[in-house]
Amino acid sequence: MLSREECILIFEHIDGLIVVDKEAKIIYMNQKTANSIRVNPKEVVGKHIKDVIPTTKIHCTVETMKPDLTDAYFLDDCTIISTRYPIFDDDNQFFGVVEYDVFDNKDLLMNFLKKIKSLNNELDYFKNELKRLQSSRYSINNIIGESASIKKLKGEIRQAASTNSTVLITGETGCGKELVAHAIHDLSNRNHSNFVRLNCSAIPSELFESELFGYEDGAFTGAKKGGKLGKFQLANNGTLFLDEINQMPYFLQPKILRALQENEIDKVGGSHSLPIDIRVIGAANENLRSLIKEGKFREDLYYRLNVIDIRVPPLRERKEDIPIIAESYINHLNQFLNRNVESISEEVFIMFMNYHWPGNIRELQNMIERAMNRISWNEDMLKIEHFDHLFNEEDQNNVIEFNTDNPIEEAKKKAEREVIMEAFKVCDGNKTKVADLLKIDRSLLYQKMKRLNIRN
Ligand SMILES: Nc1ncnc2c1ncn2[C@@H]1O[C@H](COP(=O)(O)OP(=O)(O)OP(=O)(O)O)[C@@H](O)[C@H]1O
Ligand SMILES: [Mg+2]
Repeated sequence: MLSREECILIFEHIDGLIVVDKEAKIIYMNQKTANSIRVNPKEVVGKHIKDVIPTTKIHCTVETMKPDLTDAYFLDDCTIISTRYPIFDDDNQFFGVVEYDVFDNKDLLMNFLKKIKSLNNELDYFKNELKRLQSSRYSINNIIGESASIKKLKGEIRQAASTNSTVLITGETGCGKELVAHAIHDLSNRNHSNFVRLNCSAIPSELFESELFGYEDGAFTGAKKGGKLGKFQLANNGTLFLDEINQMPYFLQPKILRALQENEIDKVGGSHSLPIDIRVIGAANENLRSLIKEGKFREDLYYRLNVIDIRVPPLRERKEDIPIIAESYINHLNQFLNRNVESISEEVFIMFMNYHWPGNIRELQNMIERAMNRISWNEDMLKIEHFDHLFNEEDQNNVIEFNTDNPIEEAKKKAEREVIMEAFKVCDGNKTKVADLLKIDRSLLYQKMKRLNIRN
């Protein structure tokens, strides 16, 4: 137990310490506090606190019997921040109030406020940085579309994100392969580590090995001092995205295969292997199988990569998504280009729906951006004239062919083909389900497929 003297000694080190009873009469004031208001601490005992410090708020806490944490009051031109607690005895009876100062002068307070302000500024800065980094990274929400094929794609992305297996993403140019790779990483439990992209078509083959695996100090003439980390190491614990993997030099493919199989890499000029923990996602816009046949891609690597295969559908297979993708891009560009476009004309819409989009979403984005550079700020509708010369007439695949023997029959065949193709998509290629959906016999489905030249 502390002695009375020890208690007093401790009390003297608490700024602004005052204790009052349940009638707000002073029971105790330490010497330091008494000095600051130029009174004798023994003489004030028994006096009402308001008679000693008129600006006090202790009597308020006596009334409410609730703590007042860091509350401000003025004393001799100073802003004082104090904390007040009600005191209850062992029988839970209200006994009085204790008050002490948190800041007993303005300079301290101002210093503190300055610190808080600068901490707040720092916090804002980091919050913004985080937002910037997060928004520059794509997530599944950046994949716009409500078509059956986009829903299926999102399901496949979620499924892939829940495992660690290698993924091979295939699809035409501009259809969103990179976006899909980002979305998988973002949803996976590797999302706190790096997503490292290596574009296999952009690196000269002699640099490939050191880019991928890094090199040790002095590995070769001209090597950077201290060596270099390769993409595999940068992606450790994260995801390595090998974009345009079909362009991977043949001689390097066995090394990649070894890294994937053994989970270790050999740096150029290194004397031992380094363990790595990465998830690899590859993307290709060419059919890797035909490259295998041509002897340009190793079959063993293909099977190692193609554990999960995700095909990103081209835009022409999901034209119903065009309006919302266009709308979201127009909204984005309205801000970026300071335009006020609210809609597209019926004519443009029809043109969009009839075009076959060989460059996919990237082409749609470019087309809209070019049109929005032609429109003036006070127009609110994108019209056909803003798109002049942008469509390549030869690319129209849905134009009606009048110079065939039977234009109506041709148009019917085209429509029938589209219905069957869409059904295949919805039913994931299952012919029994397709026949059910189209309410025809399986044998009739086969006949139609043959007649319309649909392979599945
Ligand atoms: N479903 C989508 N919704 C919205 N934007 C998309 C969608 N898919 C792709 N994009 C956008 O289209 C552009 C092209 O996408 P991305 O770069 O992922 O295509 P890619 O398949 O990797 O193309 P490439 O084969 O030419 O490398 C990007 O700006 C991307 O944000
Ligand atoms: Mg790409």
